[in-house]
Amino acid sequence: MSSFNDAESVTSRRTQSAMTAAAGVFRFLMRQPDLTHPDACDFLAGNPQEMAMPEYVRTIQRALEPDSPSYYAYGRPWRGAIESVAAALSDRLELKLDPDDVFLTRGAASGLFLALRTVIDPGDEVIAFSPPWFFYEAMVLGESAHMVRVPLSEEKFDLDVGGLAQALTPRTRAVIINTPHNPSGRVYPEDQLRELAGVLESASQRNGRRIYLLSDEAYARILFDGRRMVTPARYYPATFMLHSYSKTLLAPSQRAGYMAMPPTMPAREKLRLALMAGSLGAGVAPDTAMQRAMPELERLSIDVGALERRRDKVVRELRQMGYQVASPEGTFYLFPRTPIPDAVEFCDWLAERRVYTLPGEAFERPGYFRISLTATDAMVDRALPVFREAMQVFNRSAVQGVVE
Ligand SMILES: Cc1ncc(COP(=O)(O)O)c(C=O)c1O
Repeated sequence: MSSFNDAESVTSRRTQSAMTAAAGVFRFLMRQPDLTHPDACDFLAGNPQEMAMPEYVRTIQRALEPDSPSYYAYGRPWRGAIESVAAALSDRLELKLDPDDVFLTRGAASGLFLALRTVIDPGDEVIAFSPPWFFYEAMVLGESAHMVRVPLSEEKFDLDVGGLAQALTPRTRAVIINTPHNPSGRVYPEDQLRELAGVLESASQRNGRRIYLLSDEAYARILFDGRRMVTPARYYPATFMLHSYSKTLLAPSQRAGYMAMPPTMPAREKLRLALMAGSLGAGVAPDTAMQRAMPELERLSIDVGALERRRDKVVRELRQMGYQVASPEGTFYLFPRTPIPDAVEFCDWLAERRVYTLPGEAFERPGYFRISLTATDAMVDRALPVFREAMQVFNRSAVQGVVE
């Protein structure tokens, strides 16, 4: 018999707290509904429901063929990918990026990990706007830092820059922003980004220590109504931009993305070395085949027009049924209000009818639910009558006090 408690001694305290933070989310993500049932309507996550684009598959097949003995060798990330990404991102963001400031990553999450690992010390504070992406807190805790939340506004999910100013302390080392925002679909306008930059610049001066902005731009290419991506790096030089192919190509398990710094990043040369060291040792770079595929992948995208048409249809129908829902400016998601405050109860009711959505409780925002538009049109058509019935049932129950 061991004399110590295994549950407490197996992992570090920082891993334990990160696991606890992630468990809160997995409670909702892993409820194991029968997603394989032919009638299942899967609106849970930004996952593909149809076969991948043939051109995507062919690109990876071509890239899998070794073209030299060093194809599988240890080595620096492939320069061809870095240069094509730097050129494409410079065009999209209207920033002149230096290829030496682009780091290939295994998606946006891996870029976040690299940025946090590079600039955070134990005990630092990292501010995230709430609703945050599910795993920010676990990642911050994994660096022995604390996550502080600043709520986005109700309805429009605007940045509360005044609230951020109050949350900043001498221990604040980083702020995480996500635009286009999951789950609301909000794309932050330039005036809010400018204001944010002003507050971060003066707090950095006051603290005598740089506050970094980690800009999670995973959905930068899923924009509607002819919008173009505006990165906060245009206004705040100390910004790490985190990008991913997971969303643009709707193939999130095939890990690939990149992180970039603007040419205005302070102490850029020093950071380059630190980031290079961090990405080599920690398995941050994508596999060779994905690196080789990148120049082609940059040119591919899922059909954002089809996504936009699906958005229009679902928003229109939900509004007609009486749901309050903003029309997202980007991302895959709708984030309507639930007709009752308890979104878990509401989503459970839908799930009993094989319509699977995520309750706002998974996003620190009860009273809302998230619908992923990556579902098929057939799923949408099957689910709409269920959403209609839910509105009728829960409205009636609000009057009568019972749900049949
Ligand atoms: C806001 C946000 N950030 C990051 C990620 C992770 O992206 P990746 O698959 O590129 O790591 C996701 C995926 O859902 C996301 O929604």
